[in-house]
Amino acid sequence: MKFAIIGTNFVSDTLMEGAKDIPDFELAVVCSRTKEHAQAFADKYGCKNIILDYRDITPEMADAVYIATPNSMHHEQTLHFLNKKMHVLCEKPLASNIKEVLEMFETADRNNVMLLEAIVPLFTPNFLALKEAATKVGKVRRAVFSFGKYSSRYDAYRAGNVMNAFKNELSNGSLMDLGVYSLSNCIAIFGKPTKVLASAYMLESNVDGLGTMLLSYPDKEVIIMHSKITDSHFDSEIQGEDGTVIVKAISSPQAVKVITRQKEIIEMTAKQKPETKYYELAEFIKCVKSKNYHSELVPRQLTIDVHTIMTDVRQQINLVFPADSK
Ligand SMILES: NC(=O)c1ccc[n+]([C@@H]2O[C@H](COP(=O)([O-])OP(=O)(O)OC[C@H]3O[C@@H](n4cnc5c(N)ncnc54)[C@H](OP(=O)(O)O)[C@@H]3O)[C@@H](O)[C@H]2O)c1
Repeated sequence: MKFAIIGTNFVSDTLMEGAKDIPDFELAVVCSRTKEHAQAFADKYGCKNIILDYRDITPEMADAVYIATPNSMHHEQTLHFLNKKMHVLCEKPLASNIKEVLEMFETADRNNVMLLEAIVPLFTPNFLALKEAATKVGKVRRAVFSFGKYSSRYDAYRAGNVMNAFKNELSNGSLMDLGVYSLSNCIAIFGKPTKVLASAYMLESNVDGLGTMLLSYPDKEVIIMHSKITDSHFDSEIQGEDGTVIVKAISSPQAVKVITRQKEIIEMTAKQKPETKYYELAEFIKCVKSKNYHSELVPRQLTIDVHTIMTDVRQQINLVFPADSK
């Protein structure tokens, strides 16, 4: 399947690493606003075709598009390609808000093409191990998901240079970048919560530097902590009445184990490739080739529920993007 890639930052490299073991994947077009970036990326992966404006990519050049541009661009770019009847694998978060997400799925349906959010963890074998582990601890009463990573762009921010990762107009910040992982894991395992309470520490650039969400369910509660301005070294936990699941790296689960109340340790870690984007790409291609444009691993309703909560949380913490008033 011929792919166009838009955006040449490191995340596009990780997609290419995942693609190495997928014979159906062919990099047909690289799109960057800068010729040097496009050429360097294309040369690195043996691609012949570079484009400087995504609107110049045609269905004759590629069957599908991988979008790895800033969050605020996902909606417009995705609609553009869906309306050209091209399949789209779009980076997380799929869009700036739930209104955009719904329009994107409607547009995919109308054009009879695939749209999938590239939310890494949910496609991996270790996510399935985590889900399975959650059934081994009796009645789940609490989960605590923590993901905090001091951004490589935060030193610049502290020195007065606001880079993309901290720009409000690009729909960025901690919830959009990191919180989305824990929220997606949570809703994929436990479903949509009945109530959410959110708080955040807002930076002067008007994005959240870190935040906390308390998600209520009739029989349990989930606490999600996310941060782009501090590191977290906690493991995440799912606490049941008969044991506890411990998971390393909730953004891409690496190791999963259960500790029972009797202190027995059950290793649940699945074997998986280090190139974790392999799994989302393989799922995307499988769906397109089978013409079943609804992923069973990440059902559309799950993506909709996650973005409904994200939009609700942003209202609570007063994090407003220009995209919200379009
Ligand atoms: N799944 C993952 O593991 C993962 C990891 C990191 C990021 N992401 C997601 O991937 C997306 C990109 O993240 P990133 O950190 O790479 O973002 P970024 O550096 O801000 O932008 C990505 C690319 O988009 C283009 N771009 C940058 N600013 C632009 C602008 N103002 N207008 C148009 N194009 C622009 C640039 O490509 P050119 O210079 O080539 O045009 C840039 O390399 C985000 O949605 C993010 O959430 C996913």
